[in-house]
Amino acid sequence: MNILVTGGAGYIGSHTCVALLEAGHTVIVADNLSNSKAATIEKVKQITNKEITFYHMDMTDELVNTIFSNHNIDGVIHFAGLKSVGESAEKPLDYYYNNIVSTMVIAKACQKFNVNRFVFSSSATVYGDNKVPFVETYDLLPTTNPYGETKAMSERILTDIAMANPAFSVSLLRYFNPVGAHESGLIGEAPNGIPNNLMPYITQVAKRKLEKLRVFGNDYITMDGTGVRDYIHIMDLAEGHVAALNNLTEGVHIYNLGTGQGTSVLELIKAFEEANGIEVPYEIVDRRPGDIASCFADTSKARQELGWIVKRDITEMCRDAWRFEKNYK
Ligand code: NAD
Ligand code: UFG
Repeated sequence: MNILVTGGAGYIGSHTCVALLEAGHTVIVADNLSNSKAATIEKVKQITNKEITFYHMDMTDELVNTIFSNHNIDGVIHFAGLKSVGESAEKPLDYYYNNIVSTMVIAKACQKFNVNRFVFSSSATVYGDNKVPFVETYDLLPTTNPYGETKAMSERILTDIAMANPAFSVSLLRYFNPVGAHESGLIGEAPNGIPNNLMPYITQVAKRKLEKLRVFGNDYITMDGTGVRDYIHIMDLAEGHVAALNNLTEGVHIYNLGTGQGTSVLELIKAFEEANGIEVPYEIVDRRPGDIASCFADTSKARQELGWIVKRDITEMCRDAWRFEKNYK
């Protein structure tokens, strides 16, 4: 299939391009490079030895119609979006505008050009502070930040479009905590400035770019008091997109993409130290506002309906994350 990958130069998008190309699909990437570099596309080509057509374009601009005119698009994976929870509280309008308008512009182009396969990047954040493991049938709780609201709203918009047009097939993928990098070490997670997320913070402390990790709270009701999350290897997540696309049928389908395994902050630090033989100094500080104690997935639906299972464990996540960070300049 000819797949348009919006945000394909970003972290999850670039790894998914590798998985799509390896599965035999043709990939067209459109990205405004607001949080990524064009060089990443070259790295994806190098890894796969395949071609990619790249458009430097903003997905809120109706110019995206030209991509649909130029290519016979069979399906879209819509990754393009702003993703920092903290920043979304400071710049809500930027988040609502970018994330919602881009979803609507792409969906409108799909209708115009009769493209009926749509895969959307949603997030476990739409579950709010719910009982773990999170199941797709849960009612969505209001999230505590504009970013989460943009994901819940985009899910509703796409669901309403599918209700009005039964031929429209939508897969809403709720990601848990993607970490790690492609095993080549050529592509990975390279956040601008000081990382917000745990794994890139750990790798930068390991590289001695940052002095020590701050562990946000050790008084949660979890096995060791620190926050528990469902870390998933980025290549398993990428392969989940290929499975979702290949199994897409009419209507709206919601899938958790996680491992079903909860890991605490202290457990992740230990796993990283053991996998790579490097010490990660840390200190315990206050809880981070807005954080919940535990977040992990019920993964049975994706396993049963998509036949998708994760293949990589926490040690590989830690090794691959470090391999990328070591090589990254
Ligand atoms: P990323 O920032 O690395 O990738 C997003 C890409 O979209 C970037 O290349 C950016 O330049 C591009 N982009 C942003 N707005 C755009 C626009 N208007 N037009 C064109 N391109 C635009 O982030 P990521 O981690 O790869 O996340 C991809 C998607 O997955 C996002 O929608 C994010 O909200 C969602 N998601 C991410 C996580 C996570 O932990 N990384 C978890 C849940 C959901
Ligand atoms: N943490 C620390 N120190 C840090 C960073 C994080 O202790 O420097 C802790 C957090 O308190 C939390 C855990 O590590 O307990 C994971 O935090 P992340 O920031 O890596 O990830 P979150 O679970 O907070 O959020 C991520 C994405 C969201 C997404 C959510 C859904 O950033 O966009 O997963 O699963 F919505």
